[in-house]
Amino acid sequence: MNLRFEPSAGLTGELTAPPDKSISHRAALLGAMASYPVRIERYLHAADTTATLNAIRALGALVEVRPDGVTVRGAGLREARQPEHPIDVGNAGTLMRLLPGWLAAQEGRTFTLDGDASIRRRPVDRVAEPLRLMGATLTATDERFPPLTVQGAHLHSISYELPVASAQVKSCVLLAALAADGATTVGEPARSRDHTERMLMRAGVTIHRNGRHVTVVNADELVLEHVLVPSDPSSAAFLIAAGVLVPGSRLLLRDVGVNWTRSGFLRILKRMQGIVLGELEDDTGELISSEPSSDLDVAHGQLEGTVVEPEEVPPAIDELPLVALLGCFAEGETIVRGAGELRLKESDRIADVVEGLRGLGANIEATEDGFAVSGSGGLRGGVIDSHGDHRLAMLGAIAGLASREGVEVRGMEAAAVSYPGFVADLERLC
Ligand code: S3P
Repeated sequence: MNLRFEPSAGLTGELTAPPDKSISHRAALLGAMASYPVRIERYLHAADTTATLNAIRALGALVEVRPDGVTVRGAGLREARQPEHPIDVGNAGTLMRLLPGWLAAQEGRTFTLDGDASIRRRPVDRVAEPLRLMGATLTATDERFPPLTVQGAHLHSISYELPVASAQVKSCVLLAALAADGATTVGEPARSRDHTERMLMRAGVTIHRNGRHVTVVNADELVLEHVLVPSDPSSAAFLIAAGVLVPGSRLLLRDVGVNWTRSGFLRILKRMQGIVLGELEDDTGELISSEPSSDLDVAHGQLEGTVVEPEEVPPAIDELPLVALLGCFAEGETIVRGAGELRLKESDRIADVVEGLRGLGANIEATEDGFAVSGSGGLRGGVIDSHGDHRLAMLGAIAGLASREGVEVRGMEAAAVSYPGFVADLERLC
């Protein structure tokens, strides 16, 4: 579906962005691993998280979807059923990387995970390696790409240093560790999102953090009665960018997740002189079980360029394409470094963002691990291709609202992966 976004007058009003995708995936998966029913309030109903509900149903969990949320009656930590057909994760990288952690502990059972064309280009050797060290057998195309087959086994605890800061790989190992012998430690080169750790803590698991290392002790069962999912800061980020870029805007976004490991974009935006008021979580270094949220008050303002350093990348990883867009409107240069992981997302988010924004008039260069943008006083407009990537589709839409001549987005339907009501929400605010 191709859709045009015309230059907009100021966006005004109040809105609740959709529930968090990362937290929804985790709540459904932990629900499937739990021994008692888990009630998930504000579960995200989008393509990615629907794939997770279908996957856990195929593995033996009972899933009840009601208007006020989802109830999962789990299969149990060690009791996943072997399905007759491969599990289809669709476009969902988080499901592809987290689920093998649970499946690796299912002794004597074999599971195959597959997905769409984008998923088949995204590496899974990063989860296969630690799970093999724990004792499971995994096979993948060229040792690296889906379909991925997992043969469950009796698992051993490990100490594992992640080669890249990835919450998906960290979470996979933590889920496998629940059914392994003893205590497992995972180290990461920089702090990535910690929703899994927080939710495991709430589920009664012994887990602690020491700097960049997390240690989890195996468990007999998970007991997680209720999860309330805040609004997704990564989805809210598109609305925030629109509010900051379009003159005359003033937005109030309700109950946005402000977990420190997810609010990197807001810290970068503040440095760029963007106006966003809210109560962000501080980083105390302590692991806590709650997921804080805050209302965010957003207004238009003139931006300044900035440099995003490698250690700032993980807490802003999914919002870095928006930093490139903001850079087009900022004074001076905006540079992102140490973000090579962007090339392994739903699309190559370095090449495709650079090509897309350049087509709209941006002065932007790709580097191996990021991009450099020279502020050009805004964007002319034109045509941008989503490459089937939800975040590129939404980026194009926001670029259109802030542009001089409007933007046509090719493949707008991709937004439904994380934000099915995106276009309707923009219409309400414009
Ligand atoms: C996610 C982690 C990140 C992020 C993705 C969701 C998660 O991926 O980009 O959209 O829910 O754990 P990586 O773990 O590959 O960095």
